[in-house]
This record gives sequence, C-alpha cells and structure tokens, in this order.
Amino acid sequence: MHFVSMIDQETIQRIMDTARIEEVIGDFVSLKKRGANHIGCCPFHNEKTPSFYVSPSKGIFKCFGCGEAGDVVAFLKKHEHYTYPEALQYLARKYNIEIQEEEMTPEQQQRQNERDALFHVSEFAQKYFADLLYNDEMGRAVGLSYFHQRGMSDEIIKRFGLGYCLDEWSNFTDHALKQGYSLTVLEKTGLTIVKEDSGKRYDRFRGRVMFPIYSISGRVLGFSGRVLSSEKQAAKYVNSPDSDIYNKSRILYGLYQARTAIAKAGKCYLVEGNVDVVSMHQSGVENTVASCGTSLTTEQIRLIKRYTSNVTVLYDGDSAGIKAALRAVDLLFAEGMHVRLVLFPDGEDPDSYAQKYGSSALQDYLAQHEDNFIMFKTRVLLDGVKDDPIRRAELISDTARSIGLVTDMLERAEYIRQCAHLLHVSEEVLGSAVAKAAATARQKAYEEAQRAQTAGQQTAAPEADVAGQSAPEAEVPEGVPAAPVADTAPMHRPLPEAERHLVKLLLDYGNRMVPQQTVDDQGQPQTVEYSVAEIIVSELRNDQLSMSHPLCQRIFEQCALMVDMTHQIDTSRFLNSTDEQLRVFAVTLMMDTYSLSDSWRAKGVFVPKIEDNLLQDLTESIYAFKSGRLSQMTADLREQLRTATEEQQRELLLQIQQYNSVMRQMQTVRNIVIAPRCDTY
Ligand code: CTP
Ligand code: MN
Repeated sequence: MHFVSMIDQETIQRIMDTARIEEVIGDFVSLKKRGANHIGCCPFHNEKTPSFYVSPSKGIFKCFGCGEAGDVVAFLKKHEHYTYPEALQYLARKYNIEIQEEEMTPEQQQRQNERDALFHVSEFAQKYFADLLYNDEMGRAVGLSYFHQRGMSDEIIKRFGLGYCLDEWSNFTDHALKQGYSLTVLEKTGLTIVKEDSGKRYDRFRGRVMFPIYSISGRVLGFSGRVLSSEKQAAKYVNSPDSDIYNKSRILYGLYQARTAIAKAGKCYLVEGNVDVVSMHQSGVENTVASCGTSLTTEQIRLIKRYTSNVTVLYDGDSAGIKAALRAVDLLFAEGMHVRLVLFPDGEDPDSYAQKYGSSALQDYLAQHEDNFIMFKTRVLLDGVKDDPIRRAELISDTARSIGLVTDMLERAEYIRQCAHLLHVSEEVLGSAVAKAAATARQKAYEEAQRAQTAGQQTAAPEADVAGQSAPEAEVPEGVPAAPVADTAPMHRPLPEAERHLVKLLLDYGNRMVPQQTVDDQGQPQTVEYSVAEIIVSELRNDQLSMSHPLCQRIFEQCALMVDMTHQIDTSRFLNSTDEQLRVFAVTLMMDTYSLSDSWRAKGVFVPKIEDNLLQDLTESIYAFKSGRLSQMTADLREQLRTATEEQQRELLLQIQQYNSVMRQMQTVRNIVIAPRCDTY
C-alpha cells in the first residue's frame, strides 16, 4: 500500500477501463438486472425495498433513498473505507492488472520485496495453523477441542481464521523451510526463534491456539497465541513481535471482521480480550474490536475513527478494569470521540457473560447498561469518596472539569443536571464550577492556539486535509461554485467578533433547521426550513464574501463543501484534523460558552433558551458580519486608492461602489426581515 502513489496514469486508466462497476459492487451487494440498470438494497442505509441503482453504461451508482452516489472508486472508498490508492490496488488485484510502479529506487524495491515476503509467509502460516485444526489428529484433539470447549462454533473459528501450532519444537519452521521460505524471513515475522548461541530454531507459538491478526484489507500481519492449560508457567498470550508489517499499537484485533458492522451500526464496541471479540461476534454483536495486548493507543482510535466516532468501552467491573476504562476514555475523548461505557459485574467479561447467560442476555445487558462516561466517572469516583468532605469537593471539581470539555451546550446542560443530582449539589453550584473549568480550559487552548499560530506562520498547512484521511483528489464535484477566495491576510490578523460569532454558529448549530420565508411558484409567501449552515453559506456566497481571518475562512470553505456534498456539517472533521492550528482554533471556538450577539445583549433582551433565539441571532450575526466585512473591505480599497495608478483607481472605485450597493441592499432587506420580528420580543 505504500508505493501506490507511484501508479502511473496509464495503469490507472487501464484499471478504470477494465473494472465493471456492477461486478465490483456485486461482490458486496446482491444486484438484480432491471432494464439498463442493476438494482439492489443500499448498503449505506437500512432498507427493505431496493432503491440502490447501478448503471453499467455510465459507470456510476446512486441510492435514491439516502442519496449516496459515485463511481466505482467512490463506492470502494465509502464501503470498504479505502483511500483512493487502496481502491485502485483492490481493483487491480481483482482484475489481475499488474501495477507498474515507476521511479522506485532499488532500496524501495528491496524493502517492498521484503515486506511482500513477510506477508507471504504470514499468510502461509495462518493457512497451515488453521488446516491443522481440522486435518491433523493432534490439532483436532487439542486445538479444536479447546475452541469447542470454549463455546466457539466452527463457523466463527473459520471466520476468524483460528488455528493451532503443534506442541513440537519446530514443526512449523521445518515445514515452512521445506516449502522454500527463508529462515531470515521466518525469523523477521517472529514465527521462528533462532537461538543465538546454538543456532537452534524453534516455533515461537508451539503448543498454542492461534489468533491471526488481520489488516483492514484482510492480510495476515501477525498472531496472538494462547496457552491451553492454566497451570503452565508460560505467559497466557504470546504475540508476534513488531516487524515491517506488524505494529501492535496500530492494529486492532477483529477490525477486519468488524469493520462493516461498525460502519453500519455507527458504533464500535471496545473489549479487552481476543476471546471476548470472538465471543461477541458469535453472539451477534459484530461491531466489536480489542486492542491487541496493549493499552489503547491514539493510532488505534484513529483506525476506529475511519468508521465511526462512537465508541462504547466494555470493561470488567474490578478495579483494574475500571482504571483501564478511565484511561481509555481520556484518550478517546482527546480524539474527539463520543464515548459510552458498559461495566460488567465484578469478575465477568463479555465472553464469560455470554457463555453463562447466552447471546440474547448479553445483547440485553449491553443495551441496558450503557452509561455516558461522565455518569460513569461520577458513579465510580463517588463510590470511593463516601462522606469525606475534602474528597467530595475534589470530586465535584474533577467532574466539573470533565463536563467543561463537552462542546455541545445542550449536552453539557444535561450532564450538569444529571451529575448535580448524583453529587447532591445544586445545578447552579455545579454549573458555575463547570463554567470556571471551561474558562480555564479555554484559556489554555487559546494560548496553545497562539503558540501554534506563531509557530505555523511560515508553513501554512495544506487546505485539503481537514478530513485527516481522505485524499484531496476528486473530492469536489464539478459545478460546485467555488468558495470566495480568501485574501492573503496574515495569520495574526485580529478576529472580528462578528466573524468569530458566525463561525461559532456554523460549528455549534450548523445542522439545526430554522424556518425561512420565501415565495412559492405562484408568488405566495411560504415557510421553508433550512439548516443554519445552508443559510450562512448561501448568504456569504450570494454576496461573494469571504472571512477575513484565514482560519475562519478555511472552516467556512470546508463547511460550504460539506453543505454541498452532504447537507450536513461534520465538526469532527475539524476536531480531529491533522492540522493542529485548525483543530485548536475550532476547539477553542466551540468551547467558548454561547453568547448572544452584542446587539441583542445591548437591547437587554433576556432569552432563556438558545433555540428560541437561534433564528434572530443568526440573522443578526449575518448582518453584523456582512456590514463589518464590507466596511472593512471598503476601507482597504480606499487605502489602496491613495497609491493606485489612474487605471487601477477606476477599478477600485467600481469595486467600492459595488460594496456600497450591497450594503444599501442589505439595509433595506434588514428593515423588512428583522423589524417585524423584533416586535415579538
Ligand atoms: N494479553 C497479552 N499477554 C498476556 C495476557 C493478555 O497480550 N500475557 C492480551 C491479549 O491480547 C488478551 C488481552 O490481553 O486477549 C486480554 O487478556 P485476557 O482478558 O486475560 O484474555 P482473554 O482473551 O479474555 O482470554 P481468556 O478469556 O481465555 O482468559
Ligand atoms: Mn476472557
């Protein structure tokens, strides 16, 4: 996967010419021919009657239910979560097209060959171990019966490619060598251990049942081997050492088998053990993964994030389990994930629970015991506090800190309400502690942003990486009007309040629907609902206005693109952006407590709920932004006038006239739209 950027254009063309969209999609969706098209049930949303159309002649698919559409590569990107190059590789493999890699240096070529060799031998080993489980006497008697004894079905054993490594010194190594695999490669994968002094070789996993670990695209990367007997001195699990293809902190056990279910459910269960993953899948909860014998890492979280931002952590109710859960939660939270927790009764894990009570009891338990993390934290910490007043005060401020991290104001209010009840403090007390904690956090984030800004002034980050993972290619459909071009303002340009406020509205309430007055075909007034984001985007586009602050402009441009493509603002794109400057800026904005636009505050209007006020605030904010921006731009132009040539002056004056007319127009509209509504207050 690492050299694909070097696929030459000719090969890409050949891949695209050869791939038949109905065949490719047909591997994932059952399609029926209907006239010129093929139709089936959409894999991207749940439906019983087919509204998913594939057109072989046009090479495109479209779902009339959910609106998903694109070409064969778009399908693979969406369905398999491949990157663009990965999708091409997949197609090349499917159609036996050899990929000509150009410009590979001999060193790169060698590294690639080495990696290929590691992949090959790992796949060979997986097949060998799995085969022994069914076709070898000892394999059946020891390995298979162990799995059966633990309640695993043959179907699930095959789905996870489980196997057994015979309890002999070097049965596997000998076999692999006989088949022509080199000792160096065997040693690099860790499958074979070579004693330094004697040169004696033996199998790392001898006498263990084998859990192969797959990449997202289903290649075997390594193994986790479990001992059978509990008395043995040996470690319960032995894992493959890190190699050119295996890196334990970037791998999740079960992700290959779980990925489609995770995307479909919009949620990922995170458990502790390999056995738990297998057991959950067998119980019908297929959106489950585990971190392979490490505590959860940021890289692993980002893997999950390719499919969903909702994670439910399942942990054992003992104190070690709780500690591990809290650590995982902090990390998940830092990555902007939505976290929930299920705590199992002391001493039980998902596997033991399923074995004891059955699959449907497990599913019920999961459904009934899901806590949000703040409730969990409060409950768990409260347990250890009892009546100690000092500990209790600490707990309150600790909880306040956590709630202060929640960006959504309504969600935050709900947490305050629930936790106040749990902690036996008034909502006001907890609320003000939260506000204080949030202010401190905001200040910190702001300082960080400042630092990042100064650091990043010379190296402006690329525009297209907001998604963090999707390549910039072909993301913008044709015919989408380009967002206004940002002026080349320096990074330290001050951020006008109106602009800040507008971007904050976009982030906090972009997807909220508000009514707008328009006229229908007959010229009759009618009310239509638009999202806040749609309104902001179209307002600014209509007047060809951009934001003055570069980071605001980037957020606006990305939001405009999201509105065009999906009609939805996905703030996680900013909150997990690889561009730190942008990320910190967005977080800072969103953490800021909501404030009414100044003009409303000046009028002394008290509004108890944001919703009631959203439309008015939106209208005011757009007006404030536009007039501020227009007068600023006019002032800039007047400044330029002083040094301009005669020719340029004419241009500038025209421009100024245009701004003035937009301003006049706006004021007229404002009088119509805003004035009557003010009466309702
Ligand atoms: N683990 C490990 N090395 C060990 C023990 C555990 O790498 N010596 C990792 C394994 O990935 C294991 C996970 O930690 O799956 C969780 O451990 P545990 O709950 O003990 O394992 P289970 O898979 O649940 O195994 P079992 O139910 O058979 O005890
Ligand atoms: Mn277990």
